[in-house]
Amino acid sequence: MTWLVTGGAGYIGAHVTAALLAAGEPVVILDDLSTGDARRVPPGVPFLIGDAGDPATIRDTLHRHRVTGVMHLAGSKSVPESFHKPQWYHRQNVTVVENVLDAMAEAGVTRLVFSSSAAVYGLPASPTVAEDAPARPINPYGQSKLDAEHAVADSPGVSWIALRYFNAVGAAAAHLGDHGTTNLLPRVLRAARTGEPLTVTGTGLPTPDGTAIRDYVHVADIAAAHLAAGAAVTTGRRARVYNAGTGTGHSVLDVIHAVERTTGTPAPWTPGPPRPGDPAAVVADVTRIGSELGWRARHTLDDAVRSAWLGAAANAA
Ligand SMILES: NC(=O)c1ccc[n+]([C@@H]2O[C@H](COP(=O)([O-])OP(=O)(O)OC[C@H]3O[C@@H](n4cnc5c(N)ncnc54)[C@H](O)[C@@H]3O)[C@@H](O)[C@H]2O)c1
Repeated sequence: MTWLVTGGAGYIGAHVTAALLAAGEPVVILDDLSTGDARRVPPGVPFLIGDAGDPATIRDTLHRHRVTGVMHLAGSKSVPESFHKPQWYHRQNVTVVENVLDAMAEAGVTRLVFSSSAAVYGLPASPTVAEDAPARPINPYGQSKLDAEHAVADSPGVSWIALRYFNAVGAAAAHLGDHGTTNLLPRVLRAARTGEPLTVTGTGLPTPDGTAIRDYVHVADIAAAHLAAGAAVTTGRRARVYNAGTGTGHSVLDVIHAVERTTGTPAPWTPGPPRPGDPAAVVADVTRIGSELGWRARHTLDDAVRSAWLGAAANAA
């Protein structure tokens, strides 16, 4: 079994690669380095710099490396950017997937694990969402992930699993950390490091402390979910979406307090207006992935904060 990990130089893709290698599975990486970092790619792993949406590139990669399964993580993930560039998000997150599926069909590759997102749920009717909750995205990013799920589901002969990640946090090693400047945890860590306050978007929401609640899942746990999904698509015919979250919600203030507790440093913040259309609370119902794939998240929010803080300190040194 050789896995192609698209987006393998990215934050989550690099963790997936590390988990596959630790499990003894050969890996090939295809990444255009648009947001990725070549330093995350382990030595000795075949690494092609290129566009996963380019039909010739993906075809050539599948053939040349005798790929037998694809973990597709390449994509663009910024909600605000998706409002400015909806067509680009469609291209990056839908057209690229369609081209990967076409190349897989041509090469006879039938196993796929696809990176989807909790953004497909939009504004859920209740804070805890199961996979059969209506998918009604409220931004072009979420819509692109839902459209891509449909493209995957419509491809005949493919054994596939789409993992709807909730909010990925933490790092399994210092060099694998999240460089994202918009995600909450890196912003809180920056506030703790620099003393410059972060703006909390929404402090009067209908949650116990007034700030937004999300499901923060350690990236090493997401990588472990890929191993479980990879085994499932290999041993049987699968066509299923799964939530990849912890099942527990934390507010923005919980994250700030976790950073302060873990680092012993104040993380200053100021209240700001809520982001339009932002749901007050979104938490994964993880019943399905637990019972069908035997996966559950093992790390706590404090584990994730500690690992991200050590990573940020190492990278700043
Ligand atoms: N980080 C999260 O919390 C989160 C949550 C839900 C879903 N996701 C999804 O998970 C995937 C990985 O996210 P991430 O956080 O690792 O982001 P990331 O930006 O760190 O990784 C994406 C990787 O894909 C590469 N890439 C982008 N377009 C490409 C293309 N056309 N061809 C080849 N490589 C390309 C980038 O260079 C980067 O290395 C994305 O599809 C994202 O939408 C992430």
